[in-house]
Amino acid sequence: ALAEKGNYRHFMEKEIHEQPEVIARTLTHYVDPFRLVVRPFESIDFKQYDRILIVACGTAGYAGQVAGYWIEQIAGMPVRNEVASEFRYRDPAVSKRDLALFISQSGETADTLAAMRFCKDRGLTTAVVVNAAHSTMAREADIALPTLAGPEIGVASTKAFTCQLAALAMIAINAGRARGHIDANREKELVTGLLEAPRDVSKALEMEDEAKRIAGELTQSRSVLYLGRGVYYPLAQEGALKLKEISYLHAEAYAAGELKHGPIALIEENLPVVVVAPHDHLWDKTMSTMQEVAARGARVILVTDSAGLAACDVKREDVILLPDCAPIASPIVAAVAIQLLAYHAAVYKGTDVDQPRNLAKSVTVE
Ligand code: AGP
Repeated sequence: ALAEKGNYRHFMEKEIHEQPEVIARTLTHYVDPFRLVVRPFESIDFKQYDRILIVACGTAGYAGQVAGYWIEQIAGMPVRNEVASEFRYRDPAVSKRDLALFISQSGETADTLAAMRFCKDRGLTTAVVVNAAHSTMAREADIALPTLAGPEIGVASTKAFTCQLAALAMIAINAGRARGHIDANREKELVTGLLEAPRDVSKALEMEDEAKRIAGELTQSRSVLYLGRGVYYPLAQEGALKLKEISYLHAEAYAAGELKHGPIALIEENLPVVVVAPHDHLWDKTMSTMQEVAARGARVILVTDSAGLAACDVKREDVILLPDCAPIASPIVAAVAIQLLAYHAAVYKGTDVDQPRNLAKSVTVE
């Protein structure tokens, strides 16, 4: 069926708003809602592998980076994240005890597919987190793990990203259980937290007007810096990518702790700095980074939750307040804020939001 925009101005806007529903659908695929456990993957024995190699491009790659933090924490399993175009050409050292995990919305991205074929040739087990069920990668991988986001039309990936996070969290929990790294209570806690994500995302969508106002101000600048730590570092990168690709504003993302190793020289009066920082164990560290940029006149736009807001004594220009949620759901919820900022910045600038210049929805040729 041909996708319709309904009452929305752009597919991207519609897809942002569909997230509560499609995240729920994706989670339901993996969870036993009565026992609050993740259904085991018959086809993957996580004890058989020494490490997970995660390979993807663009937004899918950022989802993979979040998964890297999760899998190491929840399953105690080493992860290596790879950009497909680098991986495929450098004759990488891989082992049959690596589980090769690919992530792709389209299942057709040339570099990711080539990386998958390389791993298959080397005899590795290949798994793909994929949205397009009938795609080449879904067919060729040993194991296809679906995201149920439905067709994504906007070139800027939104709902596919949050559904990838949902499916990847399921992989982390499955691996953690299989390897005895988490107990039944911890699993239940994680699953319960994730099952609340659709509702949390709905609540996050309620701050759209605020995001819109801030987005209008971002368009007055030539450049925007995004900062984050831990799982929010890939979220910062995704925020910068989203802003670049549809609003054509220059944006850069840094791991907050890397700031003093160079990019702090960029900070000048009124430079917008989006800090993605829901409250977590790294909060104090992130706040000291915020202090440093604010002291140099940057306009801090803080994306946080109520605990973060209460603990923050740095001068900030604006706050996007996210609903309180379980830590495991928090990157999914934070994604909404950075999507809305980019979307509304693009609308202000009058760009072709769904089909930004120079870009294709899936990069099937190099
Ligand atoms: C996301 O907004 C981009 N358009 C792009 O980075 C995309 O995520 C990337 O090309 C990977 O595509 P895939 O998920 O279809 O493999």
